[in-house]
Amino acid sequence: MKAVEITAKDLRPEDFIKEKVKDISQAVGQGLAINALSGGVDSSAVTMLGHKALGDRLKTYFINNGIMRQGEPEEIVSIFKRLGVPVEVIDAQDNFFSALKGVTDPEKKREAITQTFYKDVFAELVKKSGAKYLLQGTILTDVDETVAGIKRQHNVFMQLGIDPQAAFGYKIIEPLVELRKDGVRKVAAALGMPEKIYNRMPFPGPALAARVIGEATPERIKVARLATMIVEEELSASRAFQYMAILHQDRVTGMRDGKRDFGLQIEIRSWDSTDARKAQPTRLPYEILDKLASRIVGEVPGVVSVTYNITQKPPSTIEAV
Ligand code: XMP
Repeated sequence: MKAVEITAKDLRPEDFIKEKVKDISQAVGQGLAINALSGGVDSSAVTMLGHKALGDRLKTYFINNGIMRQGEPEEIVSIFKRLGVPVEVIDAQDNFFSALKGVTDPEKKREAITQTFYKDVFAELVKKSGAKYLLQGTILTDVDETVAGIKRQHNVFMQLGIDPQAAFGYKIIEPLVELRKDGVRKVAAALGMPEKIYNRMPFPGPALAARVIGEATPERIKVARLATMIVEEELSASRAFQYMAILHQDRVTGMRDGKRDFGLQIEIRSWDSTDARKAQPTRLPYEILDKLASRIVGEVPGVVSVTYNITQKPPSTIEAV
């Protein structure tokens, strides 16, 4: 069953919100629902729609999986507190790192994160809360790329013939599945969220694990997190659609203090795009590239090489894993 697309141009955000609030209320009835907020525009929009529909019968969690960016859990919880939405942080770092241990294949990494999220962490939360429904922010692009076999997005089940009720013990409601990213941004703005949220750069469900090629250990995630922080600081004024740092698996010979240093490689990507289906590398000024390289080799221990990706999507994809 494939959702019919509502393009950003055809979307009437106020009508869409009214309709989805009604759908969620009807589906959940007098029961309870839960959802995971990551702070991305999709899960943020779903959180607000769900709270409009269900009030305190929706319990919102931020799952600290250990693979988020610097300061992310605290920042998101405080933004939603200001919006009147209580969010509970669940520390699940050990669950995710044990599931990722020794896993290097990209699709197996994605699958390990999916299983940990839905079967381990969420099934437990559903049991504890008594909820029957999980609200989540799957969008049409997630479905398209998963069904096409390009990348297994962490949040796609029904469209692959997987029944979440049978697999995990709860039903999933996807209010945004007819939209793409640009449509979700319009809905999020109409829901009264701050620009910081509705214009927030996309960030993948598998988080920094999608930006570490090979095993995502706590140490390697830390390298990607530091490099990401620098790239985000330096490119925040660029107006690019999405930018990131990727830690490669291969090492290369470099030199430090006059000695050979067989060190780490970071790849920077910055994309211009409207809906993530196609993307072009941002034509960044050379001075910015220069600054990125010197900050990353200077501030991220072990890095001796920084490159910039100049490939289009397709055939590249936006994330490296
Ligand atoms: P790719 O790498 O497939 O990414 O070109 C397209 C867009 O989707 C984001 N992305 C994800 N989003 N779950 C998500 O919610 C995922 O598993 C996932 N993988 C990639 C990516 O950041 C880009 O914006």
